[in-house]
Amino acid sequence: MKVNILRQKTPFSEPYWESFIYDGPEDNTVAGVIEYLNYHDDITDAEGKRTTRIGWECSCLQGICGACAMVINGTPALACETFLSGMKGKELSIRPLQKYPVIHDLVIDRSSIHENLKQANIYIGEYQPSSDVDHDHQYAAAKCLKCGLCLEVCPNYGAGKTFYGAVFANDCYLVASRNRSKASTMGKMYADHFANACSKSLSCMDVCPMKIPTLASMAKLNRAIH
Ligand code: FES
Repeated sequence: MKVNILRQKTPFSEPYWESFIYDGPEDNTVAGVIEYLNYHDDITDAEGKRTTRIGWECSCLQGICGACAMVINGTPALACETFLSGMKGKELSIRPLQKYPVIHDLVIDRSSIHENLKQANIYIGEYQPSSDVDHDHQYAAAKCLKCGLCLEVCPNYGAGKTFYGAVFANDCYLVASRNRSKASTMGKMYADHFANACSKSLSCMDVCPMKIPTLASMAKLNRAIH
């Protein structure tokens, strides 16, 4: 299988496509393909020329850390959860997520996600137990990996702007539902950084690897702010 990877040596250099030949197991994941290509001491491109190892990030290889998010055959996804067997065609194309600065090859700088959360003071603080909250929903919202896939596909999100996306809306819901004294502050943050700009494409829900019910988070926060 031919594997085309969009590479970039440094944050300031020009990206370029490089092709490789993958002859490993057919039931591998995309993360496994990159590992397989990198494994050889003498890594070569599709024409047999020596090249450098492919830069990418992973920690868990089981869909938990979110580090391996990238664009695979045009679709943003986790590389460790995307299997070759589910793909059509004989070529694989891999590129870094496009809404974040590239550091090296497939490694991106997602710090804007955390900076937005920090700037809005999204932390639970003192937990106030309550019997009238939806624990299943809280648990689902707390599964967010901060992988950035929801922001990659969001038509309203652009790094540096005041719209913070689904990752932010779910964390607002989580904080507001677990610490009632913060509910009105979270409601304002949600209105300023999400509700006033969301166009409800809901592509964030399609792509979320943890299937977080963002629409339900929005419904509860919308009710709270009106
Ligand atoms: S390596 Fe952790 S989610 Fe893929």
